[in-house]
Amino acid sequence: MVDRAVVDRVGPLYPRDVPRSPAPGSAAPRSSAPRSIAPRSTAPHRTPTPGLFLGLIITLAAVVVYSAYITRQISGLRELQNNLVDRNRKDSLQLLRIQNDLNSLALAMRDMLDNDEPYPLTAWSAQFQRVRTDLDDALRREQQVAPVNRTAEQEQYLESSVIQFWDAADRTFALAQGRNQAEARTQIRISLRARQEALSTAVSRLLVQNNESEEQAARRIAHIYDRVQRQVYLFLTATLIAILFTSLYLIRSNRRLFAQLATLSEQRSELAQKLIATQESTLRHISRELHDEFGQILTAVGAMLTRAGKHAPEGSPVRAELREVCEITQTTLDKVRSLSQALHPVMLEETGLESTLDWYLPVVERQAGVRVFYEKSGESFSVKGNAAIHVYRMVQEALNNVTRHSGAGEAWVRLRFLPTALIVEVEDHGKGFDARAAKPGIGLVAMRERAELLGGSIEFARPLQGANGTIVRVKAPREKLDSHGE
Ligand SMILES: Nc1ncnc2c1ncn2[C@@H]1O[C@H](COP(=O)(O)OP(=O)(O)OP(=O)(O)O)[C@@H](O)[C@H]1O
Ligand SMILES: [Mg+2]
Repeated sequence: MVDRAVVDRVGPLYPRDVPRSPAPGSAAPRSSAPRSIAPRSTAPHRTPTPGLFLGLIITLAAVVVYSAYITRQISGLRELQNNLVDRNRKDSLQLLRIQNDLNSLALAMRDMLDNDEPYPLTAWSAQFQRVRTDLDDALRREQQVAPVNRTAEQEQYLESSVIQFWDAADRTFALAQGRNQAEARTQIRISLRARQEALSTAVSRLLVQNNESEEQAARRIAHIYDRVQRQVYLFLTATLIAILFTSLYLIRSNRRLFAQLATLSEQRSELAQKLIATQESTLRHISRELHDEFGQILTAVGAMLTRAGKHAPEGSPVRAELREVCEITQTTLDKVRSLSQALHPVMLEETGLESTLDWYLPVVERQAGVRVFYEKSGESFSVKGNAAIHVYRMVQEALNNVTRHSGAGEAWVRLRFLPTALIVEVEDHGKGFDARAAKPGIGLVAMRERAELLGGSIEFARPLQGANGTIVRVKAPREKLDSHGE
């Protein structure tokens, strides 16, 4: 395609041969005015990852340490419960059972000493035997569940006191059986009762001791609960502080990253706009130079050759050669004019976008071999100046892409004049592409930038009706078109 080829050819001229500002006397497009890009710091900031990792590790470490601590406290509590409280309770139950047996014995002894009973003392022997069996069982069980703070002396004392009591009881019943009732009663009064009382006192002491150690355990448990509660608050505070600092750090680095991103995107956009402006002014300059300078020279050469031909004799070979050179000059002049027009159509500034496209689309059809269907709808309004250049360039690039990449032989260009906007569509039914995954080129980027300069939008979609291909849709608000057109 001619204009594509021309653009490709003029590309390398930018740095040395072509002035970046418009030619003297030419109206500079507004976007081509040199805009300074303020140097901004792009020094790489430290990555936030180590800080975030540290925060995460501190939080996790706090959770692990605290879980271990809580587990230890809970197992301590369980141990206390099993070893002390439960054992104490079971032991106290057995001690109460012993106490009860001792009380039964005391009552029996009181009855035995009361002389008003008609029975002999041996009548109580069976009751004593029953109590003895129960007492033995209770003592055995009590020994099994005796709390850990019970001393061996205490155990021994209890045991020996019981043995002594039953010895005395056996002896008393032996006396009673030998018909020595009075002696037996004396034994009960002075020996058996005293032993029963001593035993009862010992058991009571053990009960009191159990009670005390139970109270002690309750105090220790309450202390553990208090400590755990304090640690919970401490842990929560420490974890909250770690989370707070990590979150603040995350927010700060996120903000910094976004600010950096915004700066970079702004710089990129400014650069792209500057490139667009430079490209436009360069193309316009070359187009004018071609049209004005070369055009005039070639016109003058043609006129001089025509004049010189008239001086040559009719039918002479010189006259024929001069006519031939004159025709070549005319062809070159036509080519230079069409090249100048292709680079920057003067029509854009003079008659606006619509008539430029009216002229341009048949040229594309001819030169690129793609059939272009041109549709216009709505009440047309004039689009001129920079706005016209931007829309024209977008159509040009979209059609370039159709011929270069789509493989389609037909394209549809639609201009939709809406009351508030202009919609331009370029559609092909070629192979299609995904704009986000497309091989990066300058074309799509420049189209996006131009759409942004127009305050509008651009989208690359698939055509409707499920056909393959691409539809490039540009939407530019009318007010922006008007203000850009001034
Ligand atoms: N109409 C289309 N059909 C199929 N593929 C397309 C079409 N338009 C663009 N592409 C794909 O998108 C890519 C990027 O297009 P873009 O115009 O940005 O770059 P380019 O045409 O390769 O080069 P240039 O910078 O000269 O325009 C192309 O290489 C092509 O693969
Ligand atoms: Mg392209």
